[in-house]
Amino acid sequence: MGELNYLDTSMPLEERITSLLSALQTDEKLLLCAGQNFWETRAIPRLGIKAFRMSDGPRGVAYHSSRRRRCTAFPSGVAQAASWDEGLMVRFGEAVAQECKATGAQMILAPAINITRTPLNGRTFEYFSEDPLLNARLTVPMVMGIQSQGVAACVKHFAANNQEANRMRNSSEVSERALQEIYLPAFKAAVEQADAWSVMAAYNAINGTAACENPDFLKTRLRQQYGFRGFVVSDWFAVRRTSSPEACIKAGLNLEMPGKGSHYRFKTIKAAYQQKRFSDDDLDDNLRGLLRVMFLTGHLDSQVDIGQCNTVEHQTLAREMAEGGITLLKNDGDLLPLDPSSVPKIAVLGPKLKRRNCWPLWGGSAGVWPPYEVTPWQGLQAQNHGRFQWVNSPKEADAVLLFVGVGHRPGFDSEAMDRRSLHLPRNQQALIKKTVAANPNTVVILTNGGPLAMPWMDEVPALLETWYPGMEGGNAIARVIFGDANPSGKLPLTFPKQLQDSPAHQSERSYPGDKRAVHYEEELFVGYRHFDKYEIEPLFPFGHGLSYTQFTYSDLLIHGTTFAAEDTLDVSITLTNSGEVAGAEVVQLYVSDQQAADDRPPQSLKNFQKIHLEAGQSHRVSMKLPIAKLRVFCPETNQWQLKTGSYLARLGSSSRDIRLQQAFCVEEVNASIGESL
Ligand code: BGC
Repeated sequence: MGELNYLDTSMPLEERITSLLSALQTDEKLLLCAGQNFWETRAIPRLGIKAFRMSDGPRGVAYHSSRRRRCTAFPSGVAQAASWDEGLMVRFGEAVAQECKATGAQMILAPAINITRTPLNGRTFEYFSEDPLLNARLTVPMVMGIQSQGVAACVKHFAANNQEANRMRNSSEVSERALQEIYLPAFKAAVEQADAWSVMAAYNAINGTAACENPDFLKTRLRQQYGFRGFVVSDWFAVRRTSSPEACIKAGLNLEMPGKGSHYRFKTIKAAYQQKRFSDDDLDDNLRGLLRVMFLTGHLDSQVDIGQCNTVEHQTLAREMAEGGITLLKNDGDLLPLDPSSVPKIAVLGPKLKRRNCWPLWGGSAGVWPPYEVTPWQGLQAQNHGRFQWVNSPKEADAVLLFVGVGHRPGFDSEAMDRRSLHLPRNQQALIKKTVAANPNTVVILTNGGPLAMPWMDEVPALLETWYPGMEGGNAIARVIFGDANPSGKLPLTFPKQLQDSPAHQSERSYPGDKRAVHYEEELFVGYRHFDKYEIEPLFPFGHGLSYTQFTYSDLLIHGTTFAAEDTLDVSITLTNSGEVAGAEVVQLYVSDQQAADDRPPQSLKNFQKIHLEAGQSHRVSMKLPIAKLRVFCPETNQWQLKTGSYLARLGSSSRDIRLQQAFCVEEVNASIGESL
């Protein structure tokens, strides 16, 4: 086949890459270092290399990148995370990859996995969680699902990209320990466990060096430590803040995006090459990952699977995901699910009742424009089946459904700008008070992307967090309200009572930052780790979420009492659905080191399992915990270490609702580098 022998699919992958590299001329290689337009790399027709196409984003293929195809709008990241359901994440990954292919792209710019450090982050709705273990456990199946379809996942935004305020200019000043324990584990897991084919370098700098020209992050950690073999793409226009093309290329940034308006045009990159500011080896190293992913996705092969978009299966999945993530925060007197025999007349109102939430660019790059969207009002009508009668005024009704929330607008839940406040708009707070005064049986249904302060919460008997539930949201919400689906979502982040209670909001240095530096002064105390340490009562704790049934925990058993570094703890309990309807519970395992120094969090999530049980059914839930996962990062030695002594395994329904606990001991420690989480 001469110089085109890389087209031979029977050749081993690495040989195909080497063969293609040797066929490329220097100018062609330089052309492949930056995109040609907003979504594509350059084509090299001489060698049969087509443009490699990418599309946004983390809740479905975004309209702005879909060649005007309307695609399935799934629930947003925080709603996905609230399901704590790894099986759903695999199916979601598969579906979104199919849709990505159907729009002609080979890579989806997802998942978005930055840690929720501040509840004001405008992109909280896109991200998963404040907890590194939950974050990693959701990232891995999603990446695997996407890539199982021959589409590349692009895990973003690497790294410490935890706010939108000054996102293009600031530097995240963060300790090695917080990076290792909080901010990096999900990226590491995405590469080590799911072999993520691409990673997006963030806008921000990390400890003074822009993420896009940061060899410590892009080479040392990603490639040398985690074993990454794909390509790093810049966040869009992020390269503008870097110092030179050679700094990016040498640091391990493989592709600058977008091409239109790229900072380092062909001429600039070529001049740097001609002046020997980077070598042929640097250039080849830089291209290998991109070419590898082109081969892995089958992009350079002739048979291309055309994918599937907007199938009934994807729409059903969107509804199941919405139902899985809807979180019942409060339900006094079991007001929900609504029972037609006791509350037949229902008033429905509020600004979110007839509102659609899926639009092109709503919320920024995660906006998806689906072929249809079921609003809450449409869902209530479709799912009612004659059970309830709608009335106009709360006074005439037996119960009220009040739909409030924020929106994907700058200053609310949106990319490019953080939220201005933790509160609902004033008029909505007034509406809640007025409605509850008129009818105390008021259910408040929230549509929003992250923690809210709720000074009105005590007055409201029932509260349902629906997040941004996607195009099938209205059906999912109605099914939950009517009891056709039992809510099983659990908060993937803490809801504080007030902003000052949040870890990042102790000073302006820490948020939004001073002199373009954001100092992560809370260190490890992110999310519930902070609330636990300072004994602050949250509005709703991490892991919280009610059900229409009750679950009892009994018979905790840990096989053994004393363990060595190489052992695995086997923790089991009996979980019983002691209520009257089927439902699902997320059993959460937290571990406390009982001799922990003051600078350690009181407890950390170490495992969880989501279990579905019929009414009256019991199940023995068994969870493994390798003792190595108890290692902590030691700032003095810069290594992971296991501490000897006594620990407490705590099992419960939330971080603040621990039902059973038992002590165990760790001994015989050889301090060494090892695993975390
Ligand atoms: C966002 C990325 C997104 C990219 C392309 C950037 O502004 O930060 O998450 O994938 O744009 O739309």
